[in-house]
Amino acid sequence: MTQFTSEGARGTSDKAQAHLDAPTVIRTKRDGRELSDAAIDWVIDGYTHGRVHDEQMSALLMAIFLRGMAPGEIARWTAAMIGSGERFDFTDLRRDGRPLALVDKHSTGGVGDKITIPLVPVVMACGAAVPQAAGRGLGHTGGTLDKLESIAGFTAEISKSQIREQLQGIGAAVFAAGDLAPADRKIYALRDVTATTESLPLIASSVMSKKIAEGARALVLDSKVGRGAFLKTEDESRELARTMVDLGTAHGVPTRALLTDMNRPLGRAVGNAVEVAESLDVLAGGGPEDVVELTLALAREMLDAAGVGGTDPAQTLADGTAMDCFRALVAAQGGDLSHPLPVGARSETITAARGGTMGDIDAMAVGLAVWRLGAGRSAPGEQVQFGAGVVMHRRPGEPVAAGEALFTLYTDTEERFAGAMAELDGGWQVLSADDPKPEIGPLIIDRIT
Ligand code: URA
Repeated sequence: MTQFTSEGARGTSDKAQAHLDAPTVIRTKRDGRELSDAAIDWVIDGYTHGRVHDEQMSALLMAIFLRGMAPGEIARWTAAMIGSGERFDFTDLRRDGRPLALVDKHSTGGVGDKITIPLVPVVMACGAAVPQAAGRGLGHTGGTLDKLESIAGFTAEISKSQIREQLQGIGAAVFAAGDLAPADRKIYALRDVTATTESLPLIASSVMSKKIAEGARALVLDSKVGRGAFLKTEDESRELARTMVDLGTAHGVPTRALLTDMNRPLGRAVGNAVEVAESLDVLAGGGPEDVVELTLALAREMLDAAGVGGTDPAQTLADGTAMDCFRALVAAQGGDLSHPLPVGARSETITAARGGTMGDIDAMAVGLAVWRLGAGRSAPGEQVQFGAGVVMHRRPGEPVAAGEALFTLYTDTEERFAGAMAELDGGWQVLSADDPKPEIGPLIIDRIT
């Protein structure tokens, strides 16, 4: 177990910070040396308040990406990010005279990973409360906020008092981190456009700074493994999960993690509004098996971590109570589900040249295609296209007839198709009877506590 302290191992005196400047901090990491507590506190505070500039933080992030960080540095970097803003406390909230069971989950980033959308209402329907600080798209992976904002009127920019009211009244709020870990908000956006996302210390500190600050009393993490994950191998994902679990525990938030497969996309829909539509199918008691399986596995972990029993999460999908909770959540945040979800103005369909069986589908190829269609960003603050996405008509292992539709691509911008098609090229194939069947491992690989 990695030993972390919540305050950082050594105090930071003004004297220790007096001689610091950005080039020195960058050079220290560039040359493979450890950053002192003073340097970490100084650079996070300076970046949050604009004294350290984007180009300097970009260089430092790239140095961290290339050189990594020791456990003590990760702990201090995370503590400094938490300290850059407010830490919410909802422990005074009560239901039926008892403290609210506040629990949340966070994923390390996947393709088609819409799980938060059905999961939050399932957990609400079972009696726990979810304060969820969610993120926007990062690299080739989608963001919960970009997806939910495709619902007409839905806003994630809500105040702390509204979050409190929603937790008390309906049992959930899904919000942009705002005043929580503002350092993460800035660094996250910068990582998205500087190719510095795939870094264990940067993922662990990003996830845990906002999750520790958001006021959940227990946390479940979904640490992705495979081609579409930021960290590809099981060993790396395990180390990431272990690091995050230990960070949570050190900060008084009991944390556990599932390692889950991200070699192929989750479900059939990848993008913004298309993923909301698929989530509504799950909430209506249908939807793809893998999305349902992961939603229920994470719900069971969350309820167990929160000490809430008595309701079977699967029942809430079957009897419509999870759907009712989702409608209440969307309405509380200004959304209107009676308004049709946006669909890209242009579409292209890829059809099967021959019959056979759908082979494996590379999650990274699909994630990059969807990003090229406009569902993600290539510059800070860019507006995403809510209607952009890919729908997969055949999943790995399903039979395919010649001429049948395999993928439909959506965007508002015709010129984006060529790039998206190029990303998809080679990321899938139709197998003939002689080809070996695709090897599909378990969706849930392990559990880390
Ligand atoms: N989710 C986050 O909040 N941060 C990351 O770096 C990756 C996934």
